[in-house]
Amino acid sequence: MLDKARSALLPSARSEVAPFIVMDVMAAAARIEAQGGRVVHMEVGQPAAPAPRTAREAAAAALARGDIGYTQALGIPALRARIARHYREAHGVGVEAERVVVTTGSSAGFILAFLALFEPGDRVAVASPGYPPYRHSLTALGCEPVPIEISAATNWSITVEALAAAHRRKPLQGVLVASPANPTGTMMRAEALAQLIAAAEDRGIRFISDEIYHGLDYAFAAETAAKFSERALIINSFSKYFCMTGWRVGWMVVPAPLLRAVERLQQNLSISVPTLSQIAAAAAFEGRDEMEAVKHGYEENRRILTEGLPQAGLEKFLPVDGAFYLYADVSRFSPDSLDFARRMLDEAGVAATPGIDFDPLHGKEFVRFSYAGSAADMREAVERIGNWLRKG
Ligand SMILES: Cc1ncc(COP(=O)(O)O)c(C=O)c1O
Repeated sequence: MLDKARSALLPSARSEVAPFIVMDVMAAAARIEAQGGRVVHMEVGQPAAPAPRTAREAAAAALARGDIGYTQALGIPALRARIARHYREAHGVGVEAERVVVTTGSSAGFILAFLALFEPGDRVAVASPGYPPYRHSLTALGCEPVPIEISAATNWSITVEALAAAHRRKPLQGVLVASPANPTGTMMRAEALAQLIAAAEDRGIRFISDEIYHGLDYAFAAETAAKFSERALIINSFSKYFCMTGWRVGWMVVPAPLLRAVERLQQNLSISVPTLSQIAAAAAFEGRDEMEAVKHGYEENRRILTEGLPQAGLEKFLPVDGAFYLYADVSRFSPDSLDFARRMLDEAGVAATPGIDFDPLHGKEFVRFSYAGSAADMREAVERIGNWLRKG
């Protein structure tokens, strides 16, 4: 009887996913701060700025009115229309509002997309290094993530050749790319993206484009997969460019044949996305000036780091194209980036994320710095890291 009760409490095999190590770094940093220590936070991929004023005012007005009921499962029609208009304005691409689905952050978008696109056992290619929840949510849903190693030789993205080779080894049903990407901060040129989409579609491989860091492109303009295909499934969010992480609101552009499936899933899994957040999101587009100022702040941070880190001793890092990440090679200083990150936090007071979160193969050689904080923080970090590395 007791045994039965015990076994009933065991978590399912599918819930056996790896933890997110960045959370452990945050906890260690919080312990140092609780004891009065100073920490420069570069571990979390989160904007320091608030949501645009237009969004906060729209939410405040809606709260005052008080009518916060459910919305349609696919989202408030005005928000879907506003997002569709954004594709015309930002990319010159026509996207029908009917194909736009509002989601609870892009995180919920991934779950809806994976459920609508794949069967259990389906194989989905993802870049390594890459954003860990891609792998972990695919695994939890019974699909198989297939890491494809990216490097300087592949321009830090999945190439047509690498996709074709993985597909030949064992057929793939999907491929997921992000540009700008996390943790690398690298981007794909429009042509490379178009070629990869065409190569995937030729082989019947479904294409998912994570465009959450769109708007935060510095090296060249990020292009949307919507420009190249109506069959690609696009995922985006208000979390990063619009500084709305905690509002939990994002969107997808869904191929028309999948719309009803996505609608049925959303109806059953969450009914609808938080209404207040949808109202705020629709107004966020009117706060672009404010967001562009925030973006210029990241550009300045990027300049401070790309000029300062080499002088501090960290001269090897990936192209710092977009998002707000700099992925640095620390193998000259330590064979283990987890140990390097722990010591950098304890001894220099700079929190960053070890690459093992993102890359089981080569992550021990890299550390990810987020430059979403203030310019003063970036200067302090460069100075602290320089002093620490010089001490040896
Ligand atoms: C590449 C990438 N995709 C998706 C997400 C999820 O973001 P959200 O659920 O807040 O939209 C993140 C968050 O850091 C990310 O880095």
